[in-house]
Amino acid sequence: MHYFDYRNNRMYCEDVSVSDIAQQVGTPFYLYSHATLRHHFLTFQNAFEGVSHLVCFSAKSNSNLAVLRLFATLGGGLDIVSGGELFRGLKAGIPPDRIVYSGVGKREDEIAYALESNILMFNVESFQELELINRSAARMKKKAPIALRINPDIDPGTHPYISTGLRANKFGLTMEAAVEAYKAANDLSHVEVIGISCHVGSQVTEVAPFVDAIAHIKDLIATLDTFGVSLTYLDLGGGLGITYDEEFPPHPSEYGRAILETLGHVPFTLILEPGRVIVGNAGILVTRVLYTKAGDGKDFVIVDSAMNDLARPSLYGAYHAIEPVVRRENGTTKADVVGPICESGDFFAKDRQIPRVQAGDLLAVMSAGAYGFTMSSNYNSRPRVAEVMVKEDRFYVVRARESYEDLIAGESIPPFL
Ligand code: LLP
Repeated sequence: MHYFDYRNNRMYCEDVSVSDIAQQVGTPFYLYSHATLRHHFLTFQNAFEGVSHLVCFSAKSNSNLAVLRLFATLGGGLDIVSGGELFRGLKAGIPPDRIVYSGVGKREDEIAYALESNILMFNVESFQELELINRSAARMKKKAPIALRINPDIDPGTHPYISTGLRANKFGLTMEAAVEAYKAANDLSHVEVIGISCHVGSQVTEVAPFVDAIAHIKDLIATLDTFGVSLTYLDLGGGLGITYDEEFPPHPSEYGRAILETLGHVPFTLILEPGRVIVGNAGILVTRVLYTKAGDGKDFVIVDSAMNDLARPSLYGAYHAIEPVVRRENGTTKADVVGPICESGDFFAKDRQIPRVQAGDLLAVMSAGAYGFTMSSNYNSRPRVAEVMVKEDRFYVVRARESYEDLIAGESIPPFL
């Protein structure tokens, strides 16, 4: 569900007309609904009611400070994969003891930053990382809290780029390696083994992959028990999918129920790292039609936003619904909706039947709240777009549109030129 709907054929975000925002902010811009974000977060939280748990929102899906602050106020933590995400999380007011740090390539300075910030735990993905964390903690006279990230070898049935829990993927340790790594970790003087973590993939639309992963992890936990390794945290990662088109992912309550049933008695604090399911349908990308032109058997609708603003269609062939911000009785047309970037891969939709539009019209690219702005770039020297949040009948610019000066900030021409 979300709070983007039509009143008198005009799209509203909560109680604000999207056209009014466009008029004041200019286009393109990302637009987030506060009520939707809040509702999604609380629905997810409630799915694990009754068991000790922590929802660590996955910063990579949307790391705007206002979005992170909202989740902090709702009791949320953060799943981070870089020093930059840690910086954002702390700035947004996420308590460090609710931050978990995953990723196969943590740099030494990032490890030191996380140690000095006293985060909840590192999800360690290799022996070498384990040793580096131990050395760093020793130098800082600290004990690093760690979980080992297990690769459960589960096919989540999603796009190959976003499936992460297969043996062929770079993530985590295999089950066999994990036992050895736990033994090794137990012998290290400056790490404290407190958890186990996994993540099966993203945009998962069934409960089976999660349930299968838990079954594997339970086996491993039983083995570890025999070595006297006892854990406090079980981090099940993120991955629950959303409806972009015609997918029917399980409701968070169904997902929660399946997980809790499979786990049975839960002697741990559960950690969940949802991203997309919280923010995906809470955001849209608003863009203006610049031109239309007739092509071969279809039209081209050229808009002022592009693959640098929303990469998902170009990168994964991902489907995003495209809706008119003002509905008119004007029939439909088969079109490619494309941006101004000089690449044929720069499209939001291909051969799609869409309402007939004309230059100046506004379009909403739906379900763009996750992996939208965070994956945007300055390609073709396009300033990154504004981000706006609506709460009830007011809107707030939560990230200003970049300027041309921003584009060259930090660049310099050496004196020999
Ligand atoms: N935890 C870990 C360790 C992850 O790697 C990810 C996502 C998440 C949590 C959050 O997953 P979510 O709940 O959002 O599915 N750029 C791609 C998605 C890449 C996801 C990478 N990892 C896309 O636009 O579809």
